[in-house]
Amino acid sequence: MPLLVTTVSEFRQTLHAARRSGKTIGLVPTMGALHEGHLSLVRASRAECGFTAVTIYVNPTQFGPHEDFAQYPRTLESDLTLLSGLADVVFAPRDEEVYPPGFSTWVEVGSVAKPLEGVCRPGHFRGVATIVLKLFTMAWPDVAYFGQKDYQQALVIRRMAIDLNLPLTIRVCPIVREPDGLAMSSRNRYLAPDERQRATVLYQSLTQAANLVAQGETNASRITEAMRRTIQAANPKQIDYVAIADPETLEPVETIRGRTVALLAVRIGKTRLIDNMILEPP
Ligand code: PAF
Repeated sequence: MPLLVTTVSEFRQTLHAARRSGKTIGLVPTMGALHEGHLSLVRASRAECGFTAVTIYVNPTQFGPHEDFAQYPRTLESDLTLLSGLADVVFAPRDEEVYPPGFSTWVEVGSVAKPLEGVCRPGHFRGVATIVLKLFTMAWPDVAYFGQKDYQQALVIRRMAIDLNLPLTIRVCPIVREPDGLAMSSRNRYLAPDERQRATVLYQSLTQAANLVAQGETNASRITEAMRRTIQAANPKQIDYVAIADPETLEPVETIRGRTVALLAVRIGKTRLIDNMILEPP
């Protein structure tokens, strides 16, 4: 089992000792309920850094009032087992440790946080940027690892790191998928068997977009309409968005002339899933 610490001061002391012994620090922030996607980030950190810290904290400030904060899976014991031999330290704080009484300081990232998830989940990226900056200032990692599955989140964190001159590297690691293409996510465990099967439509519609672009289709609306038709066939509860956007700014793209990203958020039953894929024209 990795060393488990629950207070900021223990976490700081552990990382300070590692740094003093000449090790570079890799940080993998998570909300727990770990799966292969998370473990791929931890392995990336181990390959690159001398000391790997994983944080497990279901951050209340990034959930909206009607979202799944209460039922978000909390599986610390099995997470620690999965991290055996992979993480050097796990920081799993309580809320009081992270948010002191009277907490009122927030990080608000600009334009890249506004569309897509920013529209559907108001305040979400403010909560994410704030907790991630707090974790950065607790750990002062050399490298921090995030998954491409949360594409917009990675852009928001990158923007924050540049804008605040944070002395660290942000690495974004590829999406890890189930054999049928479903992107791994802690929320996949909410899916009932028939929903799990229907959820593969996210990946199918993204590969459809990638194929259309590879075949020379340049009209983004034609592609998103085709994607929507594919998704509708799986009888989703709701399509929050299907978008083709600039991969750096997330501004909508009408005519595909270079690399773009397709992003979507779809509700299958009560479960909201997101996914994305880079589109490369021929
Ligand atoms: O991607 C997540 O799991 C969370 O948004 C993060 C980055 C750990 C912040 O709470």
